[in-house]
This record gives sequence, C-alpha cells and structure tokens, in this order.
Amino acid sequence: MIENIDKNLNLITEIDRLKKELDVTIVAHYYQKDEIYNIADITGDSLELAKRTAETTSKFIIFCGVAFMGESVKVLNPEKRVLMPKMACCSMAQMINGEYFDRSLKILENNGIQKSDIFPITYINSSAEIKGRVGEMGGTVCTSSNADRIISHGLKSGKKILFLPDRCLGQNIANKMNLKSSVVSIFNLEEKTDIYKNSDIICYDGFCSVHQLFSIDDINFYRKKYKNIKIAVHPECDPEIVNSADFVGSTSQLIKYVNSLPLEIPVAVGTEYNLVNRMREKNIYVLSATKPQCPTMNETTLLDLYRTLKSIELNEPFYEVQVDKESSKWAKIALERMLEL
Ligand code: 13P
Ligand code: SF4
Repeated sequence: MIENIDKNLNLITEIDRLKKELDVTIVAHYYQKDEIYNIADITGDSLELAKRTAETTSKFIIFCGVAFMGESVKVLNPEKRVLMPKMACCSMAQMINGEYFDRSLKILENNGIQKSDIFPITYINSSAEIKGRVGEMGGTVCTSSNADRIISHGLKSGKKILFLPDRCLGQNIANKMNLKSSVVSIFNLEEKTDIYKNSDIICYDGFCSVHQLFSIDDINFYRKKYKNIKIAVHPECDPEIVNSADFVGSTSQLIKYVNSLPLEIPVAVGTEYNLVNRMREKNIYVLSATKPQCPTMNETTLLDLYRTLKSIELNEPFYEVQVDKESSKWAKIALERMLEL
C-alpha cells in the first residue's frame, strides 16, 4: 500500500504519465464521479465496457466500477490483468450467492417445479459464481437493454424462467411482455405451488438499493411543478414507478432518449445521480428528494486511481480481479450465449 503521498502532486498529470508508462487502460462506468469519468480512456454501461475492453491491447486494465463488471471483463478476457481501485461491490449482486441459488431451487422443487423445468437467466449484475451456475444449467445472462429478447429466447425452451437477482427488472419485463410473474424469496417458505405453476417468470427477490429510492411522490412533485415534464426511469425501479413513467430504459437507452428530446422540454430521470447530471446542460432533474448515488461506485477517487497505478509500478497490484476456473468457464459460456443472441 502506498502511503505518504506528496500533497502537491498533480494527480491528473501523474495518472496520465503512469498509465502511459505502464501500458494501462482506464475504464469507467457512467456512474463514476466526474473526476474519474473525465480521465478514463473508455466509458460506458456495463455491457459496452465488457465488449470494448476486449478490444484493447494494453497490458493492464484498471476498472472503475463494481466487482461484477470487473469480473465480466476478466471472464471474457482471461489473459488480461484487471485491477480495481476499490473493492467495490454492487449491493444487488451481493444479495445472491451459490448457497442462496441452491436454496431457491429447493424451494421451487418443494413447490413442484423441478430443476429440469427451469431456464435460468441472470442479470449481468451478478457475481461470476452465479453466472457460472446459470451457465451450467443451460441458461444465459441478460442486461437491462436486452432482457426482453433474452426472456423471449428462454421461453422458447418451454420451461419456466428463473430470473436472478433483480425482482424489479424481472417483473417490469414480464409486465411489458404480458407475462405472469411471481417472486421466490429464500426467507419466505410458505407454500406457493399454484402461484409458481401459473407464472412464466419466477423472480429472485433481489433489488438495487439505489433504484428503490424513487417514489410516486417524486413523480407527482415534478409533474405538478413542470406541466410538460417527461419522466424517464431505469427498469431496476419498482414496477409502480415504471408504470407511471413516460419512458423506461437501460442506461444507454435513457441517454439516447434524453438526447432525443428538445432542450426546452424538462426531463426528470430516475437513475444514478452522477450520470443524470451529465446528461444535458439544462432542464434535467434527478427524480428524487434523495441523492441516489451508487455508494461503492462513488467512493473511487483520483487518489485511489493513482495508488492503483503506483501498485502496478511497484509490482504489488492492489486489487486484481480473480475468478476461479470452474465459475469462469461456465460464466463465459453464459455471457457468450447472450452475446450470440
Ligand atoms: P448498466 O448495465 O446499464 O451499466 O447498469 C448497471 C447498473 O448497475 C444499473 O444500476
Ligand atoms: Fe448495483 Fe444498484 Fe449500484 Fe447498479 S446502482 S451497481 S444495481 S447497487
């Protein structure tokens, strides 16, 4: 660990020098603070970052995001050395592990749904372990921009979809596609045989703590204040919020939608704070009375980035992403199935 950093150091100049000297590409998710976003070589949403990082030839990748994103890059490009400036995790991805996955299957089995009748789909916001389990069962990964296409594909198998880990995304897509959905919770063992049997999609009970912050009161407030306002939200928001919005879309789709509106039309967006404030120069509002920042993504600073670069220089990499062989093998298969679709 590098201590005693000179307070007069110009971090931006030093980061720039070190990344060239050490052959490093800096990658940042849209939710990072501006100081990180502005210095990155590649920016984008989680899928774009995984794909574009695959095209780089540099020796090291420093990934400013959360663990599942760094893992996706590593799984798709095992030969690359991927470092993260923080041990940052996505709270939603943390809501499920291998044990909880098995418990969910057991609950469904106790309610008459056999493992062989299930087509699992995991949102990209999940660990490599979960992607691996899903891959091994013949399932695939999805993102918020392709979830409907992937679910349509899964339904062709004639099986029930087990959608992990985001209950809201699963329910929102089910509503959009006129499908029946239900929720399996490892903390609720009540008998639900009929409910599960009547569902096309059974959603695991995970959620994003950031996208739960948007409320109907927030929507009412903005609609009352600006008569012509458009409300745009991410599908990780609660179905009640999604049903009251003018537009629902993934990170990239939200950016496109906001750009397509005349600048005079105000728009309130229900997604991460840093991203929304970067979307447009005026008439843009964060749809919340709170400050919806992704807590761990927000922690990364220029100093962390500098320390990570120095750790490479000293040959003591700070936090290098490692995925065990078995998870990596099946997670890659699950990710590639999605990329093929
Ligand atoms: P994207 O896949 O759009 O980058 O979103 C990831 C995420 O964590 C949204 O909360
Ligand atoms: Fe995870 Fe939510 Fe942060 Fe996205 S915003 S990385 S889903 S905690």
